Amino acid sequence: MSTVASTPQTLTDKGLGYATHSIGGFTFARDEYFAHIFYPGGRHIMPIDAFLRALMRDVAWGFFYGTVNFDNVFGTVNHYGTVEMFIGLFNDAYRSSNRHHVETFEAKDLKKTFDEMLDDWTLEGFDPFAAPAETGTPFGPKKGGGNKKAITRQRMVANRMVGLKGDLAYRDEKEYPLNRSFQDLPTDQPEVHAEPGFEQDVHAYNFLNYVGRSDVTWNPSVVSCVKDSQFCATTEEHILPITHGNDRVEWFIQASDEIIWDVDDRATGKPRAKVIMKAGDVAAMPADIRHRGYSPKRSILIVWENNDATLPQQYASGKLTPYPVEF
Ligand code: PHB
Ligand code: FE
Repeated sequence: MSTVASTPQTLTDKGLGYATHSIGGFTFARDEYFAHIFYPGGRHIMPIDAFLRALMRDVAWGFFYGTVNFDNVFGTVNHYGTVEMFIGLFNDAYRSSNRHHVETFEAKDLKKTFDEMLDDWTLEGFDPFAAPAETGTPFGPKKGGGNKKAITRQRMVANRMVGLKGDLAYRDEKEYPLNRSFQDLPTDQPEVHAEPGFEQDVHAYNFLNYVGRSDVTWNPSVVSCVKDSQFCATTEEHILPITHGNDRVEWFIQASDEIIWDVDDRATGKPRAKVIMKAGDVAAMPADIRHRGYSPKRSILIVWENNDATLPQQYASGKLTPYPVEF
Protein backbone atom coordinates (compact mmCIF):
# COMPACT_ATOMS: atom_id res chain seq x y z
CA MET A 1 0.00 0.00 0.00
CA SER A 2 1.21 3.51 -0.74
CA THR A 3 -0.13 6.95 0.07
CA VAL A 4 2.35 8.73 -2.19
CA ALA A 5 1.20 10.07 -5.57
CA SER A 6 3.36 9.02 -8.52
CA THR A 7 5.87 11.47 -9.98
CA PRO A 8 8.67 10.84 -12.51
CA GLN A 9 10.99 10.37 -9.53
CA THR A 10 8.80 7.93 -7.56
CA LEU A 11 8.11 5.96 -10.74
CA THR A 12 11.85 5.63 -11.40
CA ASP A 13 12.44 4.75 -7.74
CA LYS A 14 10.00 1.83 -7.93
CA GLY A 15 12.96 -0.28 -8.99
CA LEU A 16 11.32 -1.65 -12.15
CA GLY A 17 14.48 -0.97 -14.15
CA TYR A 18 13.11 1.69 -16.49
CA ALA A 19 14.66 5.14 -16.89
CA THR A 20 12.67 8.33 -17.34
CA HIS A 21 13.22 10.18 -20.62
CA SER A 22 12.98 13.96 -20.97
CA ILE A 23 13.04 16.47 -23.80
CA GLY A 24 12.04 20.12 -23.45
CA GLY A 25 9.26 20.35 -20.85
CA PHE A 26 8.14 16.74 -21.39
CA THR A 27 9.14 13.85 -19.12
CA PHE A 28 8.14 10.25 -19.87
CA ALA A 29 8.13 7.48 -17.25
CA ARG A 30 6.89 3.89 -17.42
CA ASP A 31 5.69 1.39 -14.86
CA GLU A 32 4.33 -2.16 -15.22
CA TYR A 33 1.23 -1.16 -17.19
CA PHE A 34 1.43 2.47 -18.26
CA ALA A 35 3.36 5.26 -19.93
CA HIS A 36 3.14 8.46 -17.88
CA ILE A 37 3.64 11.75 -19.70
CA PHE A 38 4.42 14.81 -17.56
CA TYR A 39 4.34 18.28 -19.13
CA PRO A 40 4.08 21.87 -17.89
CA GLY A 41 0.53 22.15 -16.59
CA GLY A 42 -0.42 18.50 -16.26
CA ARG A 43 0.10 14.82 -16.85
CA HIS A 44 -1.27 12.20 -19.20
CA ILE A 45 -1.40 8.40 -19.09
CA MET A 46 -1.56 5.68 -21.76
CA PRO A 47 -1.52 1.86 -21.66
CA ILE A 48 2.10 0.85 -22.27
CA ASP A 49 1.25 -1.60 -25.08
CA ALA A 50 -0.62 1.07 -27.05
CA PHE A 51 2.10 3.63 -26.32
CA LEU A 52 4.96 1.40 -27.51
CA ARG A 53 3.11 0.38 -30.68
CA ALA A 54 2.46 4.04 -31.52
CA LEU A 55 6.00 5.09 -30.62
CA MET A 56 7.39 2.35 -32.88
CA ARG A 57 5.42 3.65 -35.88
CA ASP A 58 6.30 7.31 -35.22
CA VAL A 59 10.01 6.46 -35.05
CA ALA A 60 10.04 4.04 -37.99
CA TRP A 61 8.14 6.40 -40.29
CA GLY A 62 10.23 9.50 -39.51
CA PHE A 63 7.09 11.14 -37.97
CA PHE A 64 5.02 10.21 -41.06
CA TYR A 65 2.80 12.61 -43.07
CA GLY A 66 0.98 15.19 -40.94
CA THR A 67 -0.22 14.21 -37.47
CA VAL A 68 0.48 11.03 -35.53
CA ASN A 69 -2.07 10.89 -32.70
CA PHE A 70 -1.03 8.30 -30.10
CA ASP A 71 -4.55 8.74 -28.64
CA ASN A 72 -6.97 11.68 -28.59
CA VAL A 73 -4.61 13.78 -26.42
CA PHE A 74 -0.92 13.11 -27.15
CA GLY A 75 0.98 13.06 -30.45
CA THR A 76 3.32 14.66 -32.98
CA VAL A 77 2.96 16.85 -36.08
CA ASN A 78 5.58 16.53 -38.80
CA HIS A 79 6.82 19.79 -40.29
CA TYR A 80 9.51 17.94 -42.26
CA GLY A 81 12.64 19.11 -40.43
CA THR A 82 11.01 20.11 -37.17
CA VAL A 83 8.32 18.25 -35.23
CA GLU A 84 5.69 19.54 -32.83
CA MET A 85 4.97 17.33 -29.82
CA PHE A 86 1.63 18.12 -28.28
CA ILE A 87 -0.92 17.54 -25.54
CA GLY A 88 -4.52 18.30 -26.51
CA LEU A 89 -3.69 20.25 -29.68
CA PHE A 90 -6.37 18.42 -31.68
CA ASN A 91 -8.80 17.94 -28.80
CA ASP A 92 -11.77 20.29 -28.54
CA ALA A 93 -12.00 20.16 -24.74
CA TYR A 94 -8.28 20.87 -24.19
CA ARG A 95 -8.31 23.66 -26.76
CA SER A 96 -11.44 25.42 -25.57
CA SER A 97 -10.21 25.48 -21.98
CA ASN A 98 -6.71 26.45 -23.08
CA ARG A 99 -5.18 23.35 -21.47
CA HIS A 100 -3.21 22.25 -24.53
CA HIS A 101 0.58 22.28 -24.62
CA VAL A 102 2.88 22.25 -27.68
CA GLU A 103 6.65 22.26 -28.08
CA THR A 104 8.71 22.23 -31.29
CA PHE A 105 11.85 20.11 -31.69
CA GLU A 106 14.39 19.36 -34.37
CA ALA A 107 13.22 16.05 -35.83
CA LYS A 108 16.60 14.44 -35.17
CA ASP A 109 16.56 15.44 -31.47
CA LEU A 110 13.07 14.10 -30.84
CA LYS A 111 13.89 10.94 -32.79
CA LYS A 112 16.90 10.37 -30.54
CA THR A 113 14.79 10.64 -27.38
CA PHE A 114 12.06 8.42 -28.87
CA ASP A 115 14.66 5.83 -30.02
CA GLU A 116 16.20 5.68 -26.55
CA MET A 117 12.83 5.40 -24.83
CA LEU A 118 11.64 2.66 -27.19
CA ASP A 119 14.85 0.71 -26.66
CA ASP A 120 14.70 1.11 -22.86
CA TRP A 121 10.99 0.28 -22.49
CA THR A 122 10.56 -2.62 -24.93
CA LEU A 123 10.84 -5.97 -23.13
CA GLU A 124 12.53 -9.02 -24.55
CA GLY A 125 9.86 -11.06 -26.32
CA PHE A 126 7.65 -8.08 -27.15
CA ASP A 127 7.60 -6.86 -30.76
CA PRO A 128 5.68 -3.57 -31.13
CA PHE A 129 5.23 -4.24 -34.87
CA ALA A 130 3.68 -7.68 -34.40
CA ALA A 131 -0.01 -8.51 -34.07
CA PRO A 132 -0.90 -8.97 -30.37
CA ALA A 133 -1.58 -12.68 -31.02
CA GLU A 134 1.91 -13.11 -32.51
CA THR A 135 4.08 -11.63 -29.76
CA GLY A 136 4.84 -11.72 -26.01
CA THR A 137 3.85 -9.39 -23.20
CA PRO A 138 4.88 -5.71 -22.91
CA PHE A 139 3.85 -5.59 -19.23
CA GLY A 140 5.83 -5.89 -16.00
CA PRO A 141 9.29 -4.96 -14.74
CA LYS A 142 12.24 -4.76 -17.13
CA LYS A 143 13.58 -8.18 -18.07
CA GLY A 144 16.00 -9.64 -20.60
CA GLY A 145 17.97 -7.73 -23.16
CA GLY A 146 15.15 -5.80 -24.84
CA ASN A 147 14.27 -6.41 -28.50
CA LYS A 148 16.72 -4.39 -30.62
CA LYS A 149 16.16 -6.61 -33.64
CA ALA A 150 12.44 -5.81 -33.75
CA ILE A 151 12.70 -2.08 -33.09
CA THR A 152 15.52 -1.34 -35.55
CA ARG A 153 13.84 -2.94 -38.57
CA GLN A 154 14.31 -0.81 -41.65
CA ARG A 155 11.19 0.22 -43.52
CA MET A 156 11.11 -1.50 -46.92
CA VAL A 157 11.20 0.97 -49.79
CA ALA A 158 11.47 0.02 -53.46
CA ASN A 159 13.22 2.56 -55.66
CA ARG A 160 11.07 1.55 -58.63
CA MET A 161 9.50 -1.84 -58.03
CA VAL A 162 9.98 -4.97 -55.95
CA GLY A 163 11.97 -7.63 -57.80
CA LEU A 164 13.74 -5.39 -60.31
CA LYS A 165 17.48 -5.85 -60.57
CA GLY A 166 19.22 -3.99 -57.71
CA ASP A 167 15.88 -3.15 -56.07
CA LEU A 168 13.99 -4.71 -53.12
CA ALA A 169 14.19 -8.49 -53.34
CA TYR A 170 11.31 -10.98 -53.16
CA ARG A 171 10.60 -12.56 -49.76
CA ASP A 172 11.61 -16.19 -49.44
CA GLU A 173 9.92 -18.85 -47.33
CA LYS A 174 12.84 -19.25 -44.92
CA GLU A 175 13.16 -15.64 -43.80
CA TYR A 176 9.56 -14.59 -44.44
CA PRO A 177 7.14 -17.53 -44.16
CA LEU A 178 3.63 -16.98 -45.54
CA ASN A 179 1.48 -15.70 -42.66
CA ARG A 180 -0.90 -18.16 -40.98
CA SER A 181 -3.87 -16.20 -42.33
CA PHE A 182 -2.74 -16.29 -45.95
CA GLN A 183 -2.08 -19.99 -46.50
CA ASP A 184 -4.65 -19.99 -49.30
CA LEU A 185 -2.93 -17.26 -51.35
CA PRO A 186 -1.62 -18.25 -54.80
CA THR A 187 2.18 -18.14 -54.82
CA ASP A 188 2.87 -18.78 -58.50
CA GLN A 189 4.84 -16.27 -60.57
CA PRO A 190 3.19 -14.32 -63.41
CA GLU A 191 4.44 -14.96 -66.95
CA VAL A 192 5.95 -11.93 -68.67
CA HIS A 193 6.07 -11.89 -72.48
CA ALA A 194 7.80 -8.65 -73.46
CA GLU A 195 8.09 -7.45 -77.05
CA PRO A 196 11.66 -7.99 -78.28
CA GLY A 197 13.76 -5.03 -77.16
CA PHE A 198 11.52 -4.22 -74.17
CA GLU A 199 12.69 -7.02 -71.88
CA GLN A 200 14.30 -4.50 -69.49
CA ASP A 201 11.19 -2.30 -69.33
CA VAL A 202 8.46 -4.77 -68.46
CA HIS A 203 8.17 -6.34 -65.04
CA ALA A 204 5.58 -8.20 -63.00
CA TYR A 205 5.63 -10.20 -59.78
CA ASN A 206 3.21 -11.96 -57.48
CA PHE A 207 2.18 -9.13 -55.18
CA LEU A 208 0.11 -11.33 -52.83
CA ASN A 209 3.04 -13.70 -52.41
CA TYR A 210 5.20 -10.71 -51.40
CA VAL A 211 2.81 -8.94 -49.02
CA GLY A 212 1.43 -12.15 -47.48
CA ARG A 213 4.94 -12.79 -46.11
CA SER A 214 5.15 -9.56 -44.13
CA ASP A 215 6.08 -10.29 -40.51
CA VAL A 216 4.79 -6.91 -39.30
CA THR A 217 1.40 -5.22 -39.04
CA TRP A 218 0.35 -1.66 -39.81
CA ASN A 219 3.66 -0.83 -41.47
CA PRO A 220 3.30 0.06 -45.14
CA SER A 221 6.30 -0.77 -47.32
CA VAL A 222 6.76 1.01 -50.62
CA VAL A 223 6.41 -1.72 -53.26
CA SER A 224 6.40 0.48 -56.34
CA CYS A 225 7.23 4.10 -56.91
CA VAL A 226 6.69 6.35 -59.95
CA LYS A 227 7.80 9.94 -59.27
CA ASP A 228 5.63 11.05 -56.27
CA SER A 229 3.23 8.16 -56.58
CA GLN A 230 4.00 5.57 -53.90
CA PHE A 231 2.19 2.26 -53.64
CA CYS A 232 2.54 1.11 -50.05
CA ALA A 233 1.41 -2.40 -49.20
CA THR A 234 0.82 -3.64 -45.70
CA THR A 235 -0.78 -6.45 -43.72
CA GLU A 236 -3.14 -5.39 -40.97
CA GLU A 237 -4.37 -7.18 -37.85
CA HIS A 238 -5.92 -5.72 -34.68
CA ILE A 239 -5.85 -1.88 -34.46
CA LEU A 240 -3.82 0.76 -36.33
CA PRO A 241 -1.64 1.87 -33.37
CA ILE A 242 -1.92 5.55 -34.26
CA THR A 243 -4.75 7.76 -35.44
CA HIS A 244 -3.39 9.40 -38.56
CA GLY A 245 -4.25 13.07 -39.13
CA ASN A 246 -3.79 13.69 -42.84
CA ASP A 247 -2.05 16.67 -44.39
CA ARG A 248 -2.97 15.39 -47.88
CA VAL A 249 -5.42 12.98 -49.49
CA GLU A 250 -4.48 9.32 -49.37
CA TRP A 251 -6.16 6.39 -51.07
CA PHE A 252 -6.85 2.96 -49.59
CA ILE A 253 -7.35 -0.18 -51.66
CA GLN A 254 -8.59 -3.13 -49.61
CA ALA A 255 -7.00 -6.16 -51.26
CA SER A 256 -8.32 -8.88 -48.94
CA ASP A 257 -10.69 -9.37 -46.01
CA GLU A 258 -12.08 -6.32 -44.16
CA ILE A 259 -11.03 -3.19 -42.25
CA ILE A 260 -13.43 -0.93 -40.36
CA TRP A 261 -12.29 2.70 -40.17
CA ASP A 262 -13.21 5.40 -37.69
CA VAL A 263 -12.98 8.73 -39.49
CA ASP A 264 -13.01 11.85 -37.29
CA ASP A 265 -12.48 15.56 -37.80
CA ARG A 266 -8.72 16.18 -37.85
CA ALA A 267 -8.82 19.29 -35.65
CA THR A 268 -11.45 18.41 -33.03
CA GLY A 269 -11.71 14.63 -33.11
CA LYS A 270 -15.48 14.87 -33.69
CA PRO A 271 -16.69 11.63 -35.38
CA ARG A 272 -17.43 12.03 -39.10
CA ALA A 273 -17.84 8.57 -40.59
CA LYS A 274 -17.48 4.83 -40.23
CA VAL A 275 -16.02 3.29 -43.36
CA ILE A 276 -16.32 -0.46 -43.78
CA MET A 277 -13.93 -1.61 -46.48
CA LYS A 278 -14.38 -5.07 -47.95
CA ALA A 279 -12.00 -6.81 -50.33
CA GLY A 280 -11.94 -4.85 -53.60
CA ASP A 281 -13.18 -1.56 -52.09
CA VAL A 282 -11.32 1.70 -52.77
CA ALA A 283 -11.62 4.83 -50.61
CA ALA A 284 -10.01 8.26 -50.51
CA MET A 285 -9.27 9.62 -47.04
CA PRO A 286 -9.75 13.41 -47.21
CA ALA A 287 -7.02 15.86 -46.22
CA ASP A 288 -8.96 17.26 -43.23
CA ILE A 289 -9.68 14.11 -41.24
CA ARG A 290 -7.99 11.63 -38.91
CA HIS A 291 -8.53 7.89 -39.23
CA ARG A 292 -7.92 4.67 -37.32
CA GLY A 293 -8.50 1.18 -38.72
CA TYR A 294 -9.67 -2.06 -37.11
CA SER A 295 -8.80 -5.33 -38.84
CA PRO A 296 -10.47 -8.33 -37.12
CA LYS A 297 -8.46 -10.79 -39.25
CA ARG A 298 -5.11 -10.19 -40.95
CA SER A 299 -5.88 -8.38 -44.17
CA ILE A 300 -3.97 -6.86 -47.07
CA LEU A 301 -4.23 -3.11 -47.59
CA ILE A 302 -2.62 -0.91 -50.22
CA VAL A 303 -2.07 2.68 -49.13
CA TRP A 304 -1.49 4.96 -52.09
CA GLU A 305 0.49 8.03 -51.01
CA ASN A 306 1.35 11.20 -52.90
CA ASN A 307 4.83 12.26 -51.79
CA ASP A 308 4.64 15.77 -53.35
CA ALA A 309 6.11 18.09 -50.67
CA THR A 310 3.98 21.06 -51.81
CA LEU A 311 0.67 19.35 -50.93
CA PRO A 312 0.33 20.26 -47.21
CA GLN A 313 0.56 23.97 -48.04
CA GLN A 314 -1.90 23.64 -50.94
CA TYR A 315 -4.48 21.99 -48.69
CA ALA A 316 -3.81 24.29 -45.71
CA SER A 317 -4.28 27.38 -47.89
CA GLY A 318 -7.52 26.08 -49.41
CA LYS A 319 -6.05 25.97 -52.92
CA LEU A 320 -7.02 22.31 -53.08
CA THR A 321 -10.29 20.91 -51.74
CA PRO A 322 -9.74 18.34 -48.98
CA TYR A 323 -11.42 15.64 -51.09
CA PRO A 324 -10.15 14.48 -54.49
CA VAL A 325 -13.38 13.97 -56.48
CA GLU A 326 -16.87 15.44 -56.75
CA PHE A 327 -19.78 13.20 -57.60
C1 PHB B 1 -2.50 5.44 -42.49
O1 PHB B 1 -2.41 6.21 -41.56
O2 PHB B 1 -3.00 5.82 -43.53
C2 PHB B 1 -2.01 4.06 -42.37
C3 PHB B 1 -0.87 3.81 -41.63
C4 PHB B 1 -0.43 2.52 -41.51
C5 PHB B 1 -1.08 1.50 -42.14
C6 PHB B 1 -2.22 1.75 -42.88
C7 PHB B 1 -2.68 3.05 -43.00
O3 PHB B 1 -0.64 0.26 -42.02
FE1 FE C 1 -3.35 7.71 -43.16
